[in-house]
Amino acid sequence: ILAGDLRKPLAGRRAVVTSGPTHEPIDPVRYIANRSSGRQGHAIAAALAQLGAEVTLVSGPTRLPDPPGCTVRHIETAREMLAACEAALPADIAVCAAAVADWHVAGPSDRKLKKDGGGPPALELAENPDILATLSAPGGRRPALVIGFAAETGDVLAYATAKRARKGCDWIVANDVSPGTGTFGGSDNTVHLIRADAVESWPTMTKEAVAARLAEAAAAYFERI
Ligand code: CTP
Ligand code: CA
Repeated sequence: ILAGDLRKPLAGRRAVVTSGPTHEPIDPVRYIANRSSGRQGHAIAAALAQLGAEVTLVSGPTRLPDPPGCTVRHIETAREMLAACEAALPADIAVCAAAVADWHVAGPSDRKLKKDGGGPPALELAENPDILATLSAPGGRRPALVIGFAAETGDVLAYATAKRARKGCDWIVANDVSPGTGTFGGSDNTVHLIRADAVESWPTMTKEAVAARLAEAAAAYFERI
């Protein structure tokens, strides 16, 4: 009989996990970013590795140490994140937990923008690639299990269910990030796991506990197929 933390149900499985924010340069010293801590994504990478998976974590800038047992690719922009994910394929599992910037600055300046008396500069934005949708697209390299996140306010389940269909992923982990929930940057998370045919609402728990439960769900998925 093996102790709980010695079970390796994901041995031989490869996983790619995105985590953290992306930074999109405006000029050499400024960037567009968001408040993601990376804590949930890093915890998922560690939890998958603990169950025996060979994990590549593709992370934007965070203050977190590299999780144990994972290969970590440090990137800054969404376009770099996509390239690093594609370089990590083939994989059995993809988990997109990063808070990817939706836009980058078209043609960032290679010199620091100056106040030149002409008023503030206008930033022209261009859409970033959608990493989750790209990894979810049908094709020979599509991971068997693609999991996205949906941080929403308001009707969380309705928005997240629509997002799952739009992205083409298998599962969506939905959470409420309204002010006061403390989710963004906080240590706890209250999530719903949305699959094609079922929604599970999990009690509030630490992000590490959410990660462990999600990794177990992934292991159970591969035991069934
Ligand atoms: N995602 C991604 N690449 C992007 C944007 C989002 O991989 N360029 C992933 C996130 O990692 C997450 C999921 O897509 O797993 C949902 O992200 P979200 O920002 O909620 O979705 P969007 O399609 O950007 O929709 P919204 O307009 O609500 O921001
Ligand atoms: Ca977005």
